[in-house]
Amino acid sequence: MPSQVAKEIEKLREEIRRHEYRYYVLDDPEISDRQFDLLMERLQELEAEHPKLITPDSPSQRVGGQPAAEFPQVRHSTPMMSLDNTYSVDELRDFDRRVRELSGREQVDYVTELKLDGLSMALTYEHGVLTHGVTRGDGVRGEDVTPNLRTIRSLPLRIEPAKLRVWNSPESFEVRGEVIMGRKAFEQLNAQREAAGEPKFANPRNSAAGSIRLLDSRIVAQRKLDIFLYFALVNGVPPLAEHSKVLDSLAAIGFKVNPHRKLCHSFDEVLEYIQEWETKRDQLDYETDGIVIKVNDTRLWRELGWTAKSPRWAVAFKYPARQATTVVKDIRAQVGRTGTLTPVADLEPVDVGGVTVSHATLHNMDEVERLGVKIGDTILLQRAGEVIPQVVKVTKRAPDGRAFEMPKRCPVCGGEVFRAEGEVAYRCMNKACPAQLKESLRHFAARHAMDIDGLGDALVDQLVETKLVRDVADLYTLTADQLEALERMGEKSAANLIGEIERSRTADLARAIYGIGIPFVGERTAQVLAEHFGSLANLERATEAELDEVNEIGEKTASGIAEFFREPRNLKVMEKLKEQLKIPAAERKKPKGAGPLAGKIIVLTGTLPTYSREDAKRMIEDAGGRVTGSVSKKTDYVVAGEEAGSKLEKAKSLGVKVIDEKALLSLVE
Ligand code: IVH
Repeated sequence: MPSQVAKEIEKLREEIRRHEYRYYVLDDPEISDRQFDLLMERLQELEAEHPKLITPDSPSQRVGGQPAAEFPQVRHSTPMMSLDNTYSVDELRDFDRRVRELSGREQVDYVTELKLDGLSMALTYEHGVLTHGVTRGDGVRGEDVTPNLRTIRSLPLRIEPAKLRVWNSPESFEVRGEVIMGRKAFEQLNAQREAAGEPKFANPRNSAAGSIRLLDSRIVAQRKLDIFLYFALVNGVPPLAEHSKVLDSLAAIGFKVNPHRKLCHSFDEVLEYIQEWETKRDQLDYETDGIVIKVNDTRLWRELGWTAKSPRWAVAFKYPARQATTVVKDIRAQVGRTGTLTPVADLEPVDVGGVTVSHATLHNMDEVERLGVKIGDTILLQRAGEVIPQVVKVTKRAPDGRAFEMPKRCPVCGGEVFRAEGEVAYRCMNKACPAQLKESLRHFAARHAMDIDGLGDALVDQLVETKLVRDVADLYTLTADQLEALERMGEKSAANLIGEIERSRTADLARAIYGIGIPFVGERTAQVLAEHFGSLANLERATEAELDEVNEIGEKTASGIAEFFREPRNLKVMEKLKEQLKIPAAERKKPKGAGPLAGKIIVLTGTLPTYSREDAKRMIEDAGGRVTGSVSKKTDYVVAGEEAGSKLEKAKSLGVKVIDEKALLSLVE
């Protein structure tokens, strides 16, 4: 028996590894998330039935069991050095001159790479299997955070021997690289933390560093970390004579290597590369604070050697920080779409790396207190990529600095301001607050929502103030005449806007769900909800439990959505919207919430007499049910076939109803 199962398990693992590689490393998936989940569930199921066959390099083992008590300290095989930083072209020329003098060569080839702003890590593979992942620490010793590194899906847990032939098939080797968190993942994480009343991370680097040092790898697994490799050591030295080839070979072996790299045959090419990326780096999803320049010939590395701290064959060019100091003229509370009052600093306008900045968000009262910022103070501002400017710190206190206090009443409508127990945010409790309505309209019309071009800030203000619009649905009853009567509105622009509003009636469902502005529902979540529920009406009807069941939707989001649709005011707007919109029916990935097995959780075990497992699963899902891999108290039915194993036992011990294929068929019919 086991050999057959062992074969199936190994086949599944190979398939899963291939799809992980395509998805997380190449960003080019071949199958849907759903199909991937099915493969993983099948593997977990087989492994649960045959725990002896579980190996640490199985893709199911990315998330370990118990949290660690602490991380063991480990000595690095070769010290992890840092790089010398240069800030000017002159300093860089000095570096090039030194390299040429020391090597006795007239011209040296360099590899330029992005300097990734994360934290470096040394990974050891023994017999092709990842065994240790260690932080840089003090360069000599670091912390062994292997369980956390394993959760990074782009990192292969094992390497096929054939792939290692480029390096002469070493028994063990080490690779080094940078663990990072993308900007999107960082912003998502911070939004969640804010909603949960937890302190936010200052930047993606800090949040990557904080995440990799969490003791519970199950939390790390949710943090969407990534890793780029840029260095390899076989028997303590680079495995190939050229660094550019080492990078190519790392990629060929299956590691994620940053695609933005270049082999430069002259120093001028290095300078061009630096110039090229100064602005282009803003378009990346991760932060880059400079360019790393490495001598391509790795045999030269030993000749050039090291100083006490860093190698002489590599250097980092750091882009000038986009920072500036300026004075805080005022701090005021801005009311957002959900009624949250956000402290915003009005600044003496200042140029920060080419952009004039006159406001900066202070996020919340905790942040105001953390910074200790008062009106009149001089502060240090920082801009990174496309994210809004951040206040780094107070650099000079004004002697007569005035502290900001959160107003007791909403600055827009005078409504009561309230801070819920355990929440960071202060909110205006008046649901009819015009500021909230204005923000809702702006959000509804935004490019990624209903994309209503021409509905600018000034117009939104007028529409709300003249009471022409009392909720988002009112936009659809506006007439050209009404618009023309407003300030700065000509016949043409009124007609254009009416055209845009008309066009938006047929926007797709995901945009509409996003545009409505449900708490915690961003673009991605809206997409998931659209695919799952297929219509606004279905989404509105969904219970909290049904929402919670949707893949990717967490408990908090589920309860946020359910609460939103309990509010009578929102329901009234929804009624009006449903009348106005003509949203084309969305294709539902999983018909759920309908059918005879709606909301039922079912576990399959053993071999069914006529249906294959896949077919049984499809049948259940088509009937609205959900198939999961393991039996718990939440399970409604266990469908048992022949040779049903531990799951059947578990079902019995938990008192879960056990049925056979025939009974399943009659349930479905
Ligand atoms: S090579 C011996 N390449 O920058 C030097 N480092 O200041 C090995 N870093 O500790 C490092 N991107 O954390 C290298 N493409 C890159 C890098 C990079 C970021 C970090 C790394 C290192 C620090 C040095």
